[in-house]
Parts: sequence; C-alpha cells; structure tokens
Amino acid sequence: MVKEERTLIIIKPDALQRNLMGEIIGRFERKGLKIVGMKMIQLEDVLLDEHYCQHKGKPFFESLKKFMKSAPVTAVVLSGINAIKATRLIVGSTKGYEADAGTIRGDLSVSGQANIVHASDSPESAELEIKRFFNSGEIFEYKKADYEFVYGEEERGEML
Ligand code: CMP
Repeated sequence: MVKEERTLIIIKPDALQRNLMGEIIGRFERKGLKIVGMKMIQLEDVLLDEHYCQHKGKPFFESLKKFMKSAPVTAVVLSGINAIKATRLIVGSTKGYEADAGTIRGDLSVSGQANIVHASDSPESAELEIKRFFNSGEIFEYKKADYEFVYGEEERGEML
C-alpha cells in the first residue's frame, strides 16, 4: 500500500454556530479522504499563540484569537494520497469573498476572518500542526472499504 499523507483541518467557531459542521466533514468524506482523527477543542491563548505565530503583530491578530476562542473548534486529521493538496483545493483561498465557487470558503463564507476552516498548507506544517493538536493515540490506522474505488491501481502501488 502506498504511503498516505496526513493533513489537519480545524473547523472554526463560525461553522459550528452556522450549523455547517456536517456539510464540511461531508465534503471531505465525499472527496474520498479518510478521517483518522477528530475531536472538539476549546482553544486558549497558549495554543493559539503557537498556531498563529506568523500572524503575531498583525492588526487582526487579537481579533482572530478572540474569534477562535468564541466557541469550540473541531480538529480533524485527514489521510489520503496527496491529501494536503486535495484538502487545500477543497478549502479554497483565505478570504471567503474571493475564494473560488465550489470551494468550502467560496460557497459558505464572505469573510476574511470567519472563513469556516483552517487547513495545513504544506507537508511540514501538516506534521507540526497534527502534533500540536493530537497525541499519537488519538490518530487511527485502518483500511477503508472503498480504497480500491477511491484510487487507481498505479496510485495504490499495485501495478504488476
Ligand atoms: P487561516 O487559514 O486559519 O489562517 C490565518 C487566519 O487569519 C485566516 O485563516 C483567517 O481566519 C484570519 N485572517 C487572515 N487575514 C485576515 C484579515 N485580513 N482580517 C482578519 N482575519 C484574517
């Protein structure tokens, strides 16, 4: 079996308040990505300062933290071949009002801040971010029943 990539998404407080959690998780499920970890978390300053350290000092930083603490978030680890790129494409560009239609942000958000979901942007950040939010015992390995129908033989490394 070919090694699958893992990536992290965080379903933000606006999605919870707007009853969009099932819609969001469903989009990743329908794409063929596998959920290997999922939990609700009440974020606090220490974790947010670390997670958003590249935005420290920007005018929206404190407001972003306040928003991310306003209700629990749901952190999800997704797994799949090329999962990081596939997830970023489904999520869409940062600002909802300019994200492509068909993406989560393009379809469900008109905001730069309340943009529904965060997704890791590279293999390096995915690894760091997954470790930030999950212990190894909270991530599961299993084979999904639809694996042979989600990927082709060559992608699965099963070509003779
Ligand atoms: P995210 O992908 O989680 O990464 C950083 C977050 O900062 C981003 O999504 C938005 O929620 C938020 N953000 C980015 N730019 C702005 C902005 N100009 N004003 C307010 N919030 C922003």
